[in-house]
Amino acid sequence: MIDAMTRRSVLQTASAGFATAFSADFAAGAAPALAAVPAAKSGRVLRPDFLWGAATSGHQVEGGNVNSDSWVTEHLTPSAFPEPSGDACDSWNRWREDIALVKRLGLNTYRFGIEWARIEPERGEWSMAALAHYRAMLDACAEAGLKPLVTYSHFTVPRWFAGLGGWEVAANVDHFVRFCEMAARALGTGYAHALTFNEPNLTAQLLWQRDFKAAAPFFAMGNAEAAKRIGTERFSSTLTAPPEAVFANMASAHHRAIAAIKSVRPDVQLGLSLAVADEQAAPGESARAAKIVQVYQPWFEVVARDDFVGVQTYGRNVVGREADLAPPEGVELTETGMEFYPEALGATVRWVAGATGRPILVTENGVATSDDTRRIAYIDRALASLAKVIAEGVDVRGYVHWSLLDNFEWNRAYTAHFGLVAVDRTTFARTVKPSALHLGAYARANRI
Ligand code: BGC
Repeated sequence: MIDAMTRRSVLQTASAGFATAFSADFAAGAAPALAAVPAAKSGRVLRPDFLWGAATSGHQVEGGNVNSDSWVTEHLTPSAFPEPSGDACDSWNRWREDIALVKRLGLNTYRFGIEWARIEPERGEWSMAALAHYRAMLDACAEAGLKPLVTYSHFTVPRWFAGLGGWEVAANVDHFVRFCEMAARALGTGYAHALTFNEPNLTAQLLWQRDFKAAAPFFAMGNAEAAKRIGTERFSSTLTAPPEAVFANMASAHHRAIAAIKSVRPDVQLGLSLAVADEQAAPGESARAAKIVQVYQPWFEVVARDDFVGVQTYGRNVVGREADLAPPEGVELTETGMEFYPEALGATVRWVAGATGRPILVTENGVATSDDTRRIAYIDRALASLAKVIAEGVDVRGYVHWSLLDNFEWNRAYTAHFGLVAVDRTTFARTVKPSALHLGAYARANRI
């Protein structure tokens, strides 16, 4: 834990003017700044190669991902999205600044996604320019001394792939495997860790929420509309496909993708990330056990031989007789309506490590809030819970915060703020929040 004095001085430094729009200078190293943030003096020293990072995904920050499935569904009327992703954070053009920010914050890892829809915008047509773009990002990370963590697939797929039935069709797995092999060849050796999929169990998890379940017919309607729009018979988007229709194909895609990537890069550490909440049983009758069997167990088996498991945790669910219960009256809620419950992190890491026997990398953890003091509190409490688990001997390889930037938060568009760095919606100017410096202080000290 960062000690009280350090925390106070981080906050004082922050309030002395960090929250103004100085990020371009900051990223370039010109701002006065980080020497003023003292390293933490207490807490457990972590392994020297511990990954401290911040994450983004291609679709959520790049902007203009016009050949993706999401771009199609964002433009339907009615749409599940309050507004389209549009220019997002313009990271397609501003990625150098993003990487420089990660570096200047004192983190050592940048997690970012490569967008299949840009790399293969039409079936079998490969964009060498898009591959070169991602390769340049990896080169820039290397120059900055950062260890990138690459996500091969973060929910979005090319619209032609959705039009072929997406993950619901076994034969489509070949397309993904080809993409992985092509990308692995082009990306070179500039990364040591990668995820095939981001949260392939998310839809299964969300279906335990009454609201999401109620929206399922609306999603099916959206897929039918999307098919009409692109002139295909069907359309299947990752987040709206029925989990039971995609599980076997995504599991096989994961294993085959690992083989394809390892055939090019035998040394790279590969896994996938899971959406893991601290699943607690409501008093009395609870369907928790059934939920675990449906949402997690099958994926724990899929990752049994992976190099690591990515754990992504935002809070807890209290599971009632048939579904998750709504958070009780009076508890603090985040901007996405979840209970503010940072301690979930320690519990989920302990659970997944025990259930899979694999090393753990926290690939996402964060909170949607416009009050940055709450993000600081969240980080402190989440890391304190992680420290306990590490002290118990659990093999935790890193902590990557979601997200580097306030970005396109899917069906909440730009209304949920997960970023360590704010982004002006018109100029795309980045503004570092105090919480970013706070996380950076942990990273620089490599202690929690
Ligand atoms: C996803 C991110 C998302 C975040 C916050 C995770 O489920 O991987 O894409 O923005 O949660 O909701």
